[in-house]
Amino acid sequence: TFPKRVKIVEVGPRDGLQNEKNIVPTSVKIRMIDMLSEAGLPVIEATSFVSPKWVPQMADHIEVLKGIQKFPGINYPVLTPNFKGFQAAVAAGAKEVSIFGAASELFTRKNINCSIDESLQRFDQVLKAAQAAGIPVRGYVSCVLGCPYEGKISPAKVAEVSKKMYSMGCYEISLGDTIGVGTPGIMKDMLSAVMHEVPVAALAVHCHDTYGQALANTLMALQNHKPKERITCSGISGSRQLGGLEGPALSALAPTVTALSPSFRLQMGVSVVDASVAGLGGCPYAQGASGNLATEDLVYMLEGLGIHTGVNFQKLLEAGTFICQALNRKTSSKVAQATCKL
Ligand code: HMG
Ligand code: MG
Repeated sequence: TFPKRVKIVEVGPRDGLQNEKNIVPTSVKIRMIDMLSEAGLPVIEATSFVSPKWVPQMADHIEVLKGIQKFPGINYPVLTPNFKGFQAAVAAGAKEVSIFGAASELFTRKNINCSIDESLQRFDQVLKAAQAAGIPVRGYVSCVLGCPYEGKISPAKVAEVSKKMYSMGCYEISLGDTIGVGTPGIMKDMLSAVMHEVPVAALAVHCHDTYGQALANTLMALQNHKPKERITCSGISGSRQLGGLEGPALSALAPTVTALSPSFRLQMGVSVVDASVAGLGGCPYAQGASGNLATEDLVYMLEGLGIHTGVNFQKLLEAGTFICQALNRKTSSKVAQATCKL
């Protein structure tokens, strides 16, 4: 079974554009974001307050954040790697920020020039300042299904970093397959490990499509997981497929089991998914990684499953066409490419 609604976090204006070689005019970025707002995306990651020496494409972050229309009910988070970025973002009017770590030491070094431990110390400073200012903080964990520098990453390491960032105060943890190498089985194993440490309601998935697996990996994350939990209490014993229980049966069982087993979490599907219009994107510090899951393809699949997103599909397609024309690029969205109609 799947969630009834999915919150889509549109990362095109940030993840989608950060890797573009030619500097995209600020006015184009602003129009793109305004069109995505018109399409009804509930969260649009607008830009990042990172060093312009590291990512020149995001150097106009103040102008972008100030220039976009702020639609009521839509969040426009921005990336902030450190306290300096946080202060600049808040001064420019950011109402939500994202910090970004990784489950790989080498990727963390290449991406934000520090160790995982050091990154967590920087994030703590951001989180404390954000809490004092009443600003929600989202946390990314990159390389959850593989790293361009370290290769395989263990689910236990992903769970460890995710737990730390969640415990520090991130309201949501977005699990990034940064280089798009994962397959659904690996996604399932990784999620099972992370769900023991972070409630599934606080998890999002962020899949890049390098190997064409992004939609399949996302679908796996949306599905109810049914791990076998060992339970021993009067009336319930042995291994049971807890995820198979629904409604009143599950509600009745949950408090008893939770009381007996602190590590137990109600297991169900992830319901927050990151995607990028036209499938744009890549990370400058993950060579060869292609774009994110295309928002158009995600919405088409979710609508087909009867899952509510609140997105106006036609307007989303128009936003994709606009940015592809501006970049002189063919869309990477299969759905946007399709010419056959039902
Ligand atoms: P550093 O060089 O170690 O920083 O970079 P530093 O503290 O030594 O400062 C060096 C210079 O940068 C100084 O300026 C600072 O003022 C300046 P100088 O004195 O040389 O003129 N500086 C800043 N300027 C603007 N904004 C700031 C800032 N901080 C320092 N916030 C740093 C460390 C983190 C800044 C750098 O490594 C950086 O900016 N990295 C960002 C890399 C990036 O944006 N990567 C892409 C996003 S992550 C991603 O795509 C993955 C994701 O999509 C999920 C997934 O797919 O898995 C999120
Ligand atoms: Mg990404």
